[in-house]
Amino acid sequence: MEKQQSVLTGKRIIVMGGSSGIGLATAQALAAEDAHLVIVSGNLERVEQALATLPGSHEGYAVDLGKEENIRLFFEKAGAFDHLVYTAGENLRLSEIAHTDIPKAREFFNIRYWGALAAVKYGASHINAGGSIVLTSGIAGARPGKGWSLGASICSAMEGFARAMAVELAPIRVNIVSPGVVRTNLWNNMSAADREQLYKTVGDSLPVKRVGEATDIAQTYLYLLKQGFGTGQTIVVDGGAVLV
Ligand SMILES: NC(=O)c1ccc[n+]([C@@H]2O[C@H](COP(=O)([O-])OP(=O)(O)OC[C@H]3O[C@@H](n4cnc5c(N)ncnc54)[C@H](OP(=O)(O)O)[C@@H]3O)[C@@H](O)[C@H]2O)c1
Repeated sequence: MEKQQSVLTGKRIIVMGGSSGIGLATAQALAAEDAHLVIVSGNLERVEQALATLPGSHEGYAVDLGKEENIRLFFEKAGAFDHLVYTAGENLRLSEIAHTDIPKAREFFNIRYWGALAAVKYGASHINAGGSIVLTSGIAGARPGKGWSLGASICSAMEGFARAMAVELAPIRVNIVSPGVVRTNLWNNMSAADREQLYKTVGDSLPVKRVGEATDIAQTYLYLLKQGFGTGQTIVVDGGAVLV
């Protein structure tokens, strides 16, 4: 039987943070729909490893998304494209407010918030008609745990930013995905044993009885890229975590 053509077939899609976790799973799902991927992360070796997992021929670049000038230069060279997905973020830093180092806390916004803002600033004018942007937050904004002041702040800021951009950049659609706990390299600053314990404890507490996989979340990015009507929306995909 002939493969049905996707609305994403042949579309040039930039995935910033595409070397790992949710970004990589999204790139893989998009490649399966015959989109043309541009993978961006801070580490060339990891970009090349990611490209090697994709069927077909794609592009990849190492760009430190912590620096505005790098992002400006990247988009200057990248040329026209159809969709932007931004999932970049370094490992989590949790601290209770009394012990929070404020200069370090400011730095923690660099990739997740300021990097995304700069990517939208310099990327939006290169997006072809019918294109869109999908950003990333997390349920920490709506349901933070103790020690999550920064994570919660970034998630809420990103959701407000996405709504503002949906208005300002229209007709480009701008949406945002808010995942719950997902098994990715994001949690690598914990020991393997602590990490597995966290996945088990969180998974057992959820209505769906497991934590997320990057492939679960990738489907939400695909949905937001494919549909042509919704904009300014946060889609929560968390195994029911915000309910319990
Ligand atoms: N995993 C979860 O439980 C979870 C839950 C809620 C929200 N989220 C959010 O989802 C997003 C993706 O997380 P993930 O779980 O997929 O994490 P991940 O597997 O660690 O992936 C993070 C990506 O960000 C890139 N990155 C980090 N620093 C960078 C830099 N300076 N310049 C360019 N790229 C950089 C990494 O690439 P290189 O290392 O190759 O540079 C990697 O591709 C993050 O914003 C995270 O906060 C995740």
